[in-house]
Amino acid sequence: MPVTVNITPQRCIGQRSEMLYGHFIEHFHRQIYGGVYQPGHPLSDEDGFRTDVLEAMRRIKVPILRWPGGCFVSAYHWKDAVGPQRNPMFDKAWRVEDPNTFGTDEYVALCRKIGCEPYICTNAGTGTAEEMSDWVEYCNLENEGKYAKWRIANGHEQPHAVRYWSIGNENYGFWEIGAKSSEEWGRLVLEAAKMISHVDPTAELSAAALSDPAWNLNLLMHCGRHLDWISIHEYWDMMPENNAPSPYEQCMAFTDRIDHSVHEVRGMLAALKLDGKIKIAFDEWNLRSWHHPNVHTIRQGVEKSEYITPRDKNDINSTYTMADAVFTACFLNAMHRHCDIVGMANFAPILNTRGCIYSHDKGIVLRSTYHVFDLYVNHMGDTVVDLWQTETPTMDVPHKQGHIVRVNTLDMLATTFSDRPGMAVSAVNKHPDSAQEIVIPLSAPAKVTVLTLNGDSKDAYNDVDHEGVKVTRRELGVCEGELRLTLEPHSVNIIELA
Ligand code: AHR
Repeated sequence: MPVTVNITPQRCIGQRSEMLYGHFIEHFHRQIYGGVYQPGHPLSDEDGFRTDVLEAMRRIKVPILRWPGGCFVSAYHWKDAVGPQRNPMFDKAWRVEDPNTFGTDEYVALCRKIGCEPYICTNAGTGTAEEMSDWVEYCNLENEGKYAKWRIANGHEQPHAVRYWSIGNENYGFWEIGAKSSEEWGRLVLEAAKMISHVDPTAELSAAALSDPAWNLNLLMHCGRHLDWISIHEYWDMMPENNAPSPYEQCMAFTDRIDHSVHEVRGMLAALKLDGKIKIAFDEWNLRSWHHPNVHTIRQGVEKSEYITPRDKNDINSTYTMADAVFTACFLNAMHRHCDIVGMANFAPILNTRGCIYSHDKGIVLRSTYHVFDLYVNHMGDTVVDLWQTETPTMDVPHKQGHIVRVNTLDMLATTFSDRPGMAVSAVNKHPDSAQEIVIPLSAPAKVTVLTLNGDSKDAYNDVDHEGVKVTRRELGVCEGELRLTLEPHSVNIIELA
C-alpha cells in the first residue's frame, strides 16, 4: 500500500542547529590513546594525530566535540595534563593509568584540525567550582592571572576560546565518582556557574539533567537563570555488563521511545518558563551502550580479564549493522522535529568503542552509522518543514524486556535550505523484510536524486576486510506531478529535490 507523503514547506518547524550532528570523545579504551592520538604512528601527523581519523572526522563536518568524559572526568584534574611535566594518573573511573600526555592543549589542537567547536565537560565529582573556573581562566583569559599566563608559557599565546562548558557529567548516578543528591547538585552547579561566569560571562553553560522531575526542578530552581543548556544522555540497548547486542527487530522497538526524555524535559522547562532561555544538549546518545563490565557495579572486577579485556568487545564491527544506521537516522529525524529546543546532540562516541569510526593499525573502518552522518551533514537542509502522511504503516516488534511494541515502519523528515531553493527529504524504512512505496506530490517539476544507505541484509556491516554497507546514488532526472519511490527494507534514504 503506497503512502502519500504531503510536504508543506510553507509550514516551518524550525531552523536546526548544525550542532545536532555533534560528537563525543572520552578517555576510555582506544578513543584517545591508540585511537585519534598515536604519536609516532606511521599514519600520524607531526602532532601525533591519526591523519586518516582526522580526515574521516572532517568529512562528516563535526560541528562540536565534547571531551574528556563521561565518567572519566569525575576524578580528572586538568592541571595534571598541561605543561611540559605530565605525570601519569590512575583513572579511578575506568581503573587504568592515563599518561596525561593528551590534555587541554592537545584537545584544542584536535578541534582546530577538524574544524569543530570544543565543548569541555568539567569535574563535578571530586572537583570544585574553583578548579572548573580555573580551567576557564586557562582557556579563555587573554593573560590575566596565573592560569592564562600558564597557557602562554605552554606555548599558546592566544586564548583557546572554549565557548561551551558542561558542569559535571552524570553526577546523579550511583556509578559516578562524586555522585550528588539533587540538593547538593543544585548548590554546586550554582557556585560553579557563578565562578565560571565571573571569569568568562560569554561561556555557555550546561549541567546534567534527568527526566526525573525532582532532580531537574531542584537544579533549575537553584540555577536555571545561570544555565544556557541542560544535558541529557540516553543509550537504549543497554549492555554495560553483558555484551549481547539486540537483534534488528528489537532495535526497532527502541525507536518507539527515542524522544521521551526530550518531551519530559521540555515540559519542565516550559513549566518553569525557561524554555525560551535554556536549550537541551542531548550530549551523549547511541543505540548501543558501551560494554565495561564490573566497574559500574558495587563489586569491582579484580582480574583485568574481568573488567579490562572485555572492553575489546566494543570493537567487534559486526555489532554495528543496518539496525544502528536506521536507529541513528530515526534519532536525527526526531531531534530535527525538536529543533526548537534541542540545540545539540553528541554521538557517543565518535571513534572506536561504539563509535561511527573504527581505527586499527593499518587504517579505519567507516561503520554503518558513519554513513548516516555523512548523508545528513552533506545533503539535508537546515530548515525543518512539516509533512503529513495519508497512511502510517506499523509493525509489531519484540522489546528486549519481553513485551511487544507497535512502531511506525516509515520515518520521514523534510528540510529546505535557507541559502538556496530545493528540498532534501529523509525517508527511513524500518521494516526488516518489506519494501515501502511512497508517493510525494510535487508542486513543481524537480530534478530528483536518491541516495540510499543499505546492505544486502538487515545485519549487514562494515569491517576491516569487508564492506557490507554502502551508499548508492540514483539520478531519476526531472519528475513532474509526483515522485513514486520504493524504499528498500531496512534502508536510510535521502531524496534530493532540486
Ligand atoms: O558507558 C560510557 C559512559 O556512559 C560515559 O562515560 C558516561 O557519561 C555514561 O554513563
